[in-house]
Amino acid sequence: MTERAEILMCPPSCFGIEYEINPWMNRQHPSDRPLAVQQWDELRRLLEDRGASVCCLTPIPGLPDLVFTANAALVYKDRAIPARFRHPERQGEEALVAAWFSERGFRIDALPDGLFFEGAGDALFCGDTLFAGYRIRSDIRSHREIGDRLQCRVMPLELVDRHYYHLDTCFCPLAPGVAIYYPPAFDGYGRKVLTASIDELIPVGDAEAASFACNAVVLGRTVVTNTGCTQLHRQLETRGFLPVATSLTEFVKAGGSAKCLTLRLDGEDAAAWKLADRQAALVS
Ligand code: ARG
Repeated sequence: MTERAEILMCPPSCFGIEYEINPWMNRQHPSDRPLAVQQWDELRRLLEDRGASVCCLTPIPGLPDLVFTANAALVYKDRAIPARFRHPERQGEEALVAAWFSERGFRIDALPDGLFFEGAGDALFCGDTLFAGYRIRSDIRSHREIGDRLQCRVMPLELVDRHYYHLDTCFCPLAPGVAIYYPPAFDGYGRKVLTASIDELIPVGDAEAASFACNAVVLGRTVVTNTGCTQLHRQLETRGFLPVATSLTEFVKAGGSAKCLTLRLDGEDAAAWKLADRQAALVS
């Protein structure tokens, strides 16, 4: 059986800092479009060189954050739960993304009006549990609703630092029972939940968290991050992972990095349901 990671991305031809909806964004510090294109192309090349198949959304003028496809939806098997963005600046992405998923044959599982939910940016499987960030962007009620619909265990984690406004900026599952995290982004209860439910938690320090060390793309043992995460990379190597650094400075100006620029359409490697599907495919 050939197994290719399927990843959704969106080229940055309409990307820019056009508004400010998180503390990283400052219209006085615009991103450099040609450099952003170069950095995005390099990320795509790295992922494709490691066997991933990348498909793309069409960029739309006026939707500069559409590049951050992690927020588009939560994908679970053949189902997609599309985002409902908190900020009106991003709400124009919703219909477009839902249409893309339904055209590709996904079952659309829309959340009720009035709930905010920002896709895989705030909902990440590690083993059989969905870890779910709330407060700054997604609502805790969305996560409860998703747990009911997918019949899975949900661990809501309150995000307490506005710089780490999406769960994928401060937490990254690497495999069942293994994850990277930035402890100060969570309250004491959240930290307890994480340490009690994940065997091996790799903490990152302040400087590397601010280089988006936790915003990593995981492809098997390969872990791709922005540059400036050398201590994390050393930690990953000692655990048998293969860290790769690629500069993503222009996207950090918008509050995003490697992981935010991607969405796994076939399920993250750390998700237990994904491993179970793989095993079932191997025996059939
Ligand atoms: N400027 C975007 C926002 O504030 C960045 C999104 C980053 N995406 C992510 N999955 N963390 O919404």
